[in-house]
Amino acid sequence: MDDFSLQGKTILITGASSGIGHEAAKRLSRHGAALFITGRDETRLQETFSQLDGTGHRMMVADLTDENALNELVKALPELHGIVHCAGIVGPLPVKHISRDDIHRMFGINFMVPVDLTGKIIRKKKLLDRASILFMSTIATRNPYFGGALYSASKAALEAYSKTLALEMVNRQIRSNCLMAGLVDTPMIVSPSEDNMQAEAMERYLKRYPLGIGEPADVAGAILFFMSDASKWISGTTLIMGGE
Ligand SMILES: NC(=O)c1ccc[n+]([C@@H]2O[C@H](COP(=O)([O-])OP(=O)(O)OC[C@H]3O[C@@H](n4cnc5c(N)ncnc54)[C@H](OP(=O)(O)O)[C@@H]3O)[C@@H](O)[C@H]2O)c1
Repeated sequence: MDDFSLQGKTILITGASSGIGHEAAKRLSRHGAALFITGRDETRLQETFSQLDGTGHRMMVADLTDENALNELVKALPELHGIVHCAGIVGPLPVKHISRDDIHRMFGINFMVPVDLTGKIIRKKKLLDRASILFMSTIATRNPYFGGALYSASKAALEAYSKTLALEMVNRQIRSNCLMAGLVDTPMIVSPSEDNMQAEAMERYLKRYPLGIGEPADVAGAILFFMSDASKWISGTTLIMGGE
């Protein structure tokens, strides 16, 4: 018997067009879940979709910071046994340069979207009793890095939200947890875009990783655990992964 079976479960994964969300989608489908995946880039989302095992999956391209697109997604969703909130952005920004626009952009997708999406799914009665909700946080909420103030703050807010969500949903046995991941080798971190972590900050950061930096598959394993009944007695927690 597969303790991590997701047979009969329907799970939404945001940010499934890249990195951790892409890997999680493949892993969860291998364990029998029917998935609803979403992302902004149609080609990469389609690529994830084509790599899923099993049947009954659906996909929708959407920029979730667009409220209409988010509402369309909620409307299209079936009843869910799980939500994996992977969509997010990072961006180095020294505190003295942080503007209102920066705050809006970072908190928009990293905090407002998962909170708004979760609330709307609950209000539309699309979240089943005993469902599991998972948010992606970062080790940087505990261990600051240069330029990470906004990113870390947006994820710390999510951790606080998740704990209250766990409390408020416990009467329906709905669980809410966070993964506090260390550095994971994904396009968010390694592509040479100016939005990504600067080389110097990266070098400092790497020294903190006795187990090395993570692979998306390492995080996908934990996501599988939290979506499965193997974690049915765990709620309101934040699992630290890969950190010291
Ligand atoms: N990589 C790490 O070291 C690390 C560590 C700790 C936590 N995390 C968190 O883990 C999550 C996944 O990160 P990752 O490394 O897999 O990053 P990634 O490869 O850059 O993937 C980010 C995903 O978020 C989606 N996304 C971004 N903005 C969006 C928007 N406005 N609307 C809808 N989707 C949007 C992207 O869609 P498109 O690509 O289609 O635009 C993509 O699918 C993030 O929340 C991140 O903060 C990452």
